[in-house]
Amino acid sequence: MTVEATQIAATRIAEAGVEAVGAVATLAELTALETTLLGKKSELSMARRSLGSLEPDQRREAGAAFNATREALGAAIEARRSELAAAEHRASMEAEALDLTRFIGPVNRGHVHPVTATRERLEDIFIGLGFEVAEGPDLETDWFNFGALNIPPHHPARGMHDTFHLDLGGPGDYVLRTHTSPVQIRHMRAVTAERGGPPIYAIMPGRVYRNERTDATHLAALHQLEGLVIDRQITLGHLEGTIDTFIRAYFGSEFETRFRPSYFPFTEPSAEVDMRTAGGDWLEIGGCGMVHPTVLRNGGIDPEIWSGFAFGFGIDRLAKMRHDVPDIREFVANDVRFLSQF
Ligand code: FA5
Repeated sequence: MTVEATQIAATRIAEAGVEAVGAVATLAELTALETTLLGKKSELSMARRSLGSLEPDQRREAGAAFNATREALGAAIEARRSELAAAEHRASMEAEALDLTRFIGPVNRGHVHPVTATRERLEDIFIGLGFEVAEGPDLETDWFNFGALNIPPHHPARGMHDTFHLDLGGPGDYVLRTHTSPVQIRHMRAVTAERGGPPIYAIMPGRVYRNERTDATHLAALHQLEGLVIDRQITLGHLEGTIDTFIRAYFGSEFETRFRPSYFPFTEPSAEVDMRTAGGDWLEIGGCGMVHPTVLRNGGIDPEIWSGFAFGFGIDRLAKMRHDVPDIREFVANDVRFLSQF
């Protein structure tokens, strides 16, 4: 091997290598080519190893030629690498680009659930009558759900509520509220603390829970709309007038209602309200009555000065009536063919 021959070889390796570098199309191919051109088994490395047979002076000269080749190849590879990286970056940006000005046509946005819509409609009606809206927790103490409402432990009325009891491991008994009536007590106390006491004109919507068998008119998680009015000289006439007004506002005039004497420990006298369309079956939609003096006292209100009425209506039942839904369980079946009809 002569110096001249090695210089020719170095030049040829450099030229062929630079051309190959220019031809690769991806970063992965470039990495593979880098090993082929500069790795231990590359032509360049092999040729360098053969320099051992030259005289020292010649070896230096030939070595310099191979070093120049290595540098040229290294520079070509780096240049190509940044070109390819930029191209790949550009391609991925283009692939992910979004045209935020493009019109994508009408969107199917869905709508609120019919029971929620009913609740909102009822809230609107009562707000229009001058009522405020209050809320209480779904998880209640035994006292708020029963005791404060004149239903002490072992009272037979507890048997009418199929209660989900919670064992939270701490003191006191907790239940999933069986009705929205505990919010009456919470609201009376809040009003007394915040503004010194009645008058109170409030509705209290919310979800309640009953451990009972479901059927066409019963759910285990249902919604009630509680009402509470406390003022001076409130009478049964005000109660009937208020219920008639909201029923007419929500249903129009093709429905009939009737009041039936009934019993609740927290009201005296008490009644239940039924509804039907002309010729249809009666369905119980709510309970009501004049607030019991014990309940007023538990709410921090003096029954010698104030009197009032309360009611509790089933929102799901009102929605069932209003939309003529044969089975109340449709509301929780989540069938879009049913829900999209509202
Ligand atoms: C009560 O829950 C009383 N707290 C109502 C009340 C409030 C009376 C204030 C007096 C003063 P009742 O258990 O009857 O009462 O339920 C009231 C209404 O909730 C029923 O008329 C019905 O419309 C609805 N309801 C009760 N249980 C169910 C159920 N399982 N599924 C669907 N609706 C129900």
